[in-house]
Amino acid sequence: MAPDIDVQKVSILGKDSIHCGFHLIPYIVRTVLEALPSSTYVLVADSNVANLHLSSFETEFLDKIRQLSTKPRFLSYVILPGETSKSREGKAEIEDFLLLNKCTRDTVILALGGGVIGDLVGFVAATFMRGVRFVQIPTTLLAMVDSSVGGKTAIDTPHGKNLIGAFWQPEYIFIDAAFLETLPAREFSNGMAEVVKTAAIWNEDDFASLESQSAEIFAAIQTPSTNYSGRTVSTRSNAQHLLLSVIVGSISVKAHIVTVDERETGLRNLVNFGHTIGHAIEAVLTPTILHGECVSVGMILEAEVSRQMGVLGQVGVGRLTRCLKAYNLPVSLSDPRIANLPAAKSLTVDNLLDIMRVDKKNSGPQKKIVILSRIGKTYEEKATIVADAIIAKTLSEAVKIIPGRPSKSPIHMATPGSKSISNRALLLAALGKGMCRLRNLLHSDDTQVMMNALVDLKGAKFSWEDGGETLVVEGGGGLLSIPAKGKEIYLGNAGTAARFLATVCTLVQASEQRTVITGNARMKQRPIGPLVTALRANGSSIDYLESQGCLPLSIASAGLKGGHIQLAASVSSQYVSSILLCAPYAQTEVRLELIGGQVISQPYIDMTIAMMKTFGVNVVREKDPATGAFLDVYTIPQMSYVNPSIYNIESDASSATYPLAIAAITGTECTIANIGSASLQGDARFAKEVLEPMGCEVIQTETETTVKGPPVGTLRALGLVDMEPMTDAFLTASVLAAVAVTSPKPGRKLIEGPPNATRIIGIANQRVKECNRIQAMMDQLAKFGIETRELEDGLEIYGKPIIELNEGASIHCYDDHRVAMAFSVLGTVIRDTIIEEKRCVEKTWPNWWDDLENKIGLQVEGVELDHGSSSPSGQETTNSSASVVIVGMRGSGKSYIGQLAASALSWTFLDADPVFEIKHQIGVREFVQKNGWPAFRAAESEILKELLAEHPTKHVISLGGGIVETPTSRDLLKEYSKKGPVVHIVREIDEVIRYLGEETARPAYGEPVIDVFQRRAPWFAECSNYEFINYTGVLHGEQAEAKRSPNSIRKDVARFFGHITGQNPNLAPNVTNGQRSYFLSLTYPDITPALLHVEELTAGVDAIELRVDLLRSPSGSETFGRYIPPSAYVTEQIAALRQKTSLPIVYTIRTISQGGNFPDHAEAEAFELLHSALRIGVEYIDVEITWPSKRIQELLPRKGYSQIIASWHDWSGNLKWVGQTVEEKYQAAAAIGDIVKIVGRANCLEDNFALHAFVQAKMSTFNSKPLLAINMGTEGQISRILNKTLSPVTHPLLPNKAAPGQLSFAQIQSALHLIGQLPTRRFFLFGTPIAHSMSPTLHNTGFRILGLPHQYELFETDSVGEEIKAAIASPDFGGASVTIPFKLDVIPLLDSLSPEAEAIGAVNTIIPLRTDDGSHILHGDNTDWIGILDSVQSRLPAGMHSPETALVIGAGGTSRAAIFALNKLGVEKVYLFNRTAANAQELVVDFPEVNIEVVTRLGAWSSHSPSIIISTVPASATTYDPSKEDALYLPPEIFANSSGGVVVDMAYKPADTPLLQQASKMSNWSVVRGVDVLLEQGFVQFRLWTGRHCPRKAVSEAVWKAYST
Ligand SMILES: NC(=O)c1ccc[n+]([C@@H]2O[C@H](COP(=O)([O-])OP(=O)(O)OC[C@H]3O[C@@H](n4cnc5c(N)ncnc54)[C@H](O)[C@@H]3O)[C@@H](O)[C@H]2O)c1
Ligand SMILES: [Zn+2]
Repeated sequence: MAPDIDVQKVSILGKDSIHCGFHLIPYIVRTVLEALPSSTYVLVADSNVANLHLSSFETEFLDKIRQLSTKPRFLSYVILPGETSKSREGKAEIEDFLLLNKCTRDTVILALGGGVIGDLVGFVAATFMRGVRFVQIPTTLLAMVDSSVGGKTAIDTPHGKNLIGAFWQPEYIFIDAAFLETLPAREFSNGMAEVVKTAAIWNEDDFASLESQSAEIFAAIQTPSTNYSGRTVSTRSNAQHLLLSVIVGSISVKAHIVTVDERETGLRNLVNFGHTIGHAIEAVLTPTILHGECVSVGMILEAEVSRQMGVLGQVGVGRLTRCLKAYNLPVSLSDPRIANLPAAKSLTVDNLLDIMRVDKKNSGPQKKIVILSRIGKTYEEKATIVADAIIAKTLSEAVKIIPGRPSKSPIHMATPGSKSISNRALLLAALGKGMCRLRNLLHSDDTQVMMNALVDLKGAKFSWEDGGETLVVEGGGGLLSIPAKGKEIYLGNAGTAARFLATVCTLVQASEQRTVITGNARMKQRPIGPLVTALRANGSSIDYLESQGCLPLSIASAGLKGGHIQLAASVSSQYVSSILLCAPYAQTEVRLELIGGQVISQPYIDMTIAMMKTFGVNVVREKDPATGAFLDVYTIPQMSYVNPSIYNIESDASSATYPLAIAAITGTECTIANIGSASLQGDARFAKEVLEPMGCEVIQTETETTVKGPPVGTLRALGLVDMEPMTDAFLTASVLAAVAVTSPKPGRKLIEGPPNATRIIGIANQRVKECNRIQAMMDQLAKFGIETRELEDGLEIYGKPIIELNEGASIHCYDDHRVAMAFSVLGTVIRDTIIEEKRCVEKTWPNWWDDLENKIGLQVEGVELDHGSSSPSGQETTNSSASVVIVGMRGSGKSYIGQLAASALSWTFLDADPVFEIKHQIGVREFVQKNGWPAFRAAESEILKELLAEHPTKHVISLGGGIVETPTSRDLLKEYSKKGPVVHIVREIDEVIRYLGEETARPAYGEPVIDVFQRRAPWFAECSNYEFINYTGVLHGEQAEAKRSPNSIRKDVARFFGHITGQNPNLAPNVTNGQRSYFLSLTYPDITPALLHVEELTAGVDAIELRVDLLRSPSGSETFGRYIPPSAYVTEQIAALRQKTSLPIVYTIRTISQGGNFPDHAEAEAFELLHSALRIGVEYIDVEITWPSKRIQELLPRKGYSQIIASWHDWSGNLKWVGQTVEEKYQAAAAIGDIVKIVGRANCLEDNFALHAFVQAKMSTFNSKPLLAINMGTEGQISRILNKTLSPVTHPLLPNKAAPGQLSFAQIQSALHLIGQLPTRRFFLFGTPIAHSMSPTLHNTGFRILGLPHQYELFETDSVGEEIKAAIASPDFGGASVTIPFKLDVIPLLDSLSPEAEAIGAVNTIIPLRTDDGSHILHGDNTDWIGILDSVQSRLPAGMHSPETALVIGAGGTSRAAIFALNKLGVEKVYLFNRTAANAQELVVDFPEVNIEVVTRLGAWSSHSPSIIISTVPASATTYDPSKEDALYLPPEIFANSSGGVVVDMAYKPADTPLLQQASKMSNWSVVRGVDVLLEQGFVQFRLWTGRHCPRKAVSEAVWKAYST
């Protein structure tokens, strides 16, 4: 027999097709079979849902069908769970199933599952056989209240979500709320976001019930129903009733809207509230963050947009925020669930706006947002057009104020209500008799919770007026009843509410039942003991249900007895207020005696008493009859409160200081209502006691305060001011003091201070507020150039004229609302003052920025902070221009490396020693001799502090070796390392000792260097966040120089510092620019033998992988089995590698289970190695996703500008490239990596096609990360050929391959060519005469070595004509070199020029840039100058960073490139010699930024003699024989510079020109031959054309060989 089942029906589009209830399966089956007769029923579910619920459906169907005569078929089909199934492929899969099973037009499809199933199956139904009937059986809350209702069906494509679909209405929608019992809690919350949304746009009552009943609603899904309870109305629990009413309520609204506007032309827009911004967020965070979670944040941001537009009040935003939070949903992008994700980096304002541009709701380019006007109502009955600027302002994390005169002056406004007064007024009005309209109520957690509780206790009724601005309280006169059976009063973490309500609950009318009040975990630890003790002593029965002294409490309903009550009041005045507020309703008159010593916060007790008086109850405080002094004893009459009809809640006095201060500083007028001389708040005295003495006109009545500022710039300093009674206002006073320069009023001036001083005292408690506020003010004021002095209980501020304050200060707010608001006062007069954390004002004045605009009349702009372009996640305030600090042992090369670093970064180098000597007017050595070490160390710390403060950006600061000896300096360094690089220069100790032996400038250690070294080593390590390994003694000694050329160290320094500062991260460009990229795997136990061949081995590749797990130090080579290389050995290997190559390094520790050699469980060791790799600036770190996530999460914030390759390997051969496993691995890796690496094993060729499809799908999604996906084994080789990102390659010279199936770079290129992925291109040299050019040899050799199928040919022609035009237009054109005489003539043929070619005015390289449609545009560049620059730079003598002068001979096209190169090199002056001086003058005009001096005689120098000489004239035209008349005589004086230098002769023939011959004879001079420059510039050309480094060594050899034959 069919069970009894109750359903509630909701109508949509005129039909009662939505049926809701619990445990509906029999009902569903019966209804479907009866109402939708068919030959075939097909149920589709995902595997999660199928596992839980499919069998029940199956049993029921088969059972019922057995009873039918027609015997229809019941089929079921299960698909993979997750959004990826909602695709074209997913749809085809189901269709194939239907076709295979010969389903016909009469088929009924049942979609059992969440929104994914509903959308997908619905779309299948819409198109199968031109549409078949279908039924929605949603199993997630989201699907029940949203996706199943309305008939929208869709699938996703790589271009975006839901882009293809149809409107197709289901025959029935069965809402079985019992399915929610198996739904994960997070999915439930996800659906609640839509429920809250619907209520927020449509129905305030529904919203209010969601607001107050979150705990019960959660409880309803958490307690499983047994025995099908809830199936009938009579078996439904309260919780079930509530849950169903919430769902039905939400569905009804949506059904109504859909019925009115099925095709979304207007009204239906409204359901998109929160979705405009929410979808943009979702596009970035999907799938890690769920739809509802993104919409939740979106709703708050969109509500803030409404608030900003002045349409929605803060109460509305606040209610929405609290309500969403109650359902465990995120409400801001800084929620840790979001902010900690790597993808959160992409949530930039620009990015989000960009995504919003393609929203379906937009009209043209304009964005539309659903604007709330209050809870339950929208501004328009459709989405509203909103300007980008408004959205941008809401989204940005920082703001600035545009200085100016507040346009609303004279301003009349109220500030948000005082929190303490709001809490008291609410309770008083609820307990009072009659209606009371509360105005200016601060809506907070406390008031929200208190309202919910009072409703539960039936103690009062609440409603909102004026769009939420007024709360109407219908007081219950003190009559309270027991809450509904089983209902506990949940107070969250609202402390005041808990204290007040504990006594209120004793007032509940006599009943058998007790009232239970409880809270969250934090609440359950907060004390309430003294209050309970007092109430118990008075006869109330109160039990602790968990810990003694804390909530939850069970309170008997017996009334408050009254009479004499003793209360310990030294912990919290709230206990006192709690009893006072309830006392009038006690059974006998209360005499309250406070005991236990000093009563805390008397002003708050006075406040309660004063407010009780307003509500008609006079409390009498007893006096000592003898002395007349007040006693801590109060008598409260027994009576009812009488509600005033209106109660204006006093404004928060601390908040009021900001608008008043703005009037003061801008010379305008401001009146704050609801706060005056009668106020009980201390900060109400700010106007009279601070602003008036500063020169403002202040008028204060009992209830209002008006301030009129003096003319701008004329505020007076305060002299001495004691702010003890108004400590919170000291920040406001401080910012005014910063611009107060007029001397104080008579009598206030400090006796010993300057006239512009303001000394604030009595505020010591402000050190322990949200932050150390005294320190905070000093630090932030310093950014404006304001000097301050810290005092024991305050600070002193020295004012400056406004125009002298620094503009553009960026204020850090320490998450402290008062810091933010105080500095916005200064921002009204100082341009570009940025308040970095705008949201921190939410604590007390969430709409401060809106009020600044709308009520005060100052424009506020959003500012997006620059977190450094590739933003190293985690480091708090990383700034890519943060100065670099260098530490290390004396003699480790700090100054040398520091100078090289500074020159590479174009930053300023600062050595602490000279700074010290200048400051103290005495040498370091003498200072120590005179004052001793401790004094020196102290002075040194002081200098460190100053250097860091004065040069926060773009400096390289080298510190003394002993700086780490004092804890003060160490702390400074550690602190600094959180925001900028502190680099420890490490050099072998033997080298240091050898070097120090020769050094005398600084004080000797007085102890063995080795001891000093050992003591300091750990300190250096803890103070620094990077390590630069300087293994060679390049400063001194030939031996060292032989080991490493100055050029190699210069390059290494440039690479290292460019990378760690983010100025020029050393990453492989091909990984992100759409080209193919490769890395070579080094699989040696010791890589040093391979170093000789590194160039050859790495030809063509983009990076080198060091397989750390395969390394074995010499001491380890004897052992067998598992081995972990010591960190020092690994570092040494990398340092050695760095001497030979600056290619980025991929640092890989492959574990055994992932196919490597590293023990699987040596987790600590592995991460120690990974951390040390980041310290030494390794560019890519391979992190296996199988490591514990805690370890990985600790590593991520340390990565700086390096990148993580998150990898996963499956050696089993079981990995399928379709399905859930690979999807999960991909998601896990994408969540932590910058690059994802997944490696499987191919068993057959087809496995590679699946891989390829997987990669294509991933790559076409928005914001996808580079993906390295390959199959191992020979069967997998094709995947290695096709893989685009960092394909691992081997080389014939390597001893063994890193993995089976690995190919070489050249092999892959040939293969790509064969399969049509790498077409042959033709390259040319344009010019004449060029028959003897070396360029074809150069490039063709390079192509051959790399396996590239290209061809370079001579193209000799007399003019730039049709032939050249045809060649460069041809589709197979690969690029061209341009030589004499066409370097200028080709320019008109080109589409674009590089800035360098433009500046030089000549092109020697043409590059075809391919466009998406396969055509190309022609780009001109000039590599001559790079050839010159590189040749010169690599040969400069050690220690010569930027040579002072250089000589250029000749004034033709090449000399232009030479001058450009010299300027890039930082040469201060260029002597230019040319036979015809007029031509030389032309160059002077063309290069205005270069200091060129035309010389008429070689050897006569106006200042330094040149250290670089570049000749651009034919060799035959020069001579070193003075007697030769027809040639240019080169006198020996041109080599007068004794430090030596570099000579370049651009002439090719002969190889050794007269100039070079002469130079070779001079000591210290290096020579560069014309062919050397040709090679260098050719290498650059090669890279520009192919994206690959040219194999230099082999190519040079080939060219020189060709040249000499
Ligand atoms: N058509 C519309 O108007 C509309 C509206 C909103 C959202 N959507 C779409 O809905 C989809 C999201 O729906 P969703 O949030 O329901 O996701 P979903 O269908 O992926 O379900 C979420 C997860 O919960 C599991 N699950 C479902 N029911 C369960 C149950 N009773 N017990 C245990 N596990 C269960 C699922 O297997 C899945 O893992 C998106 O594709 C979205 O675009 C459509
Ligand atoms: Zn939605």
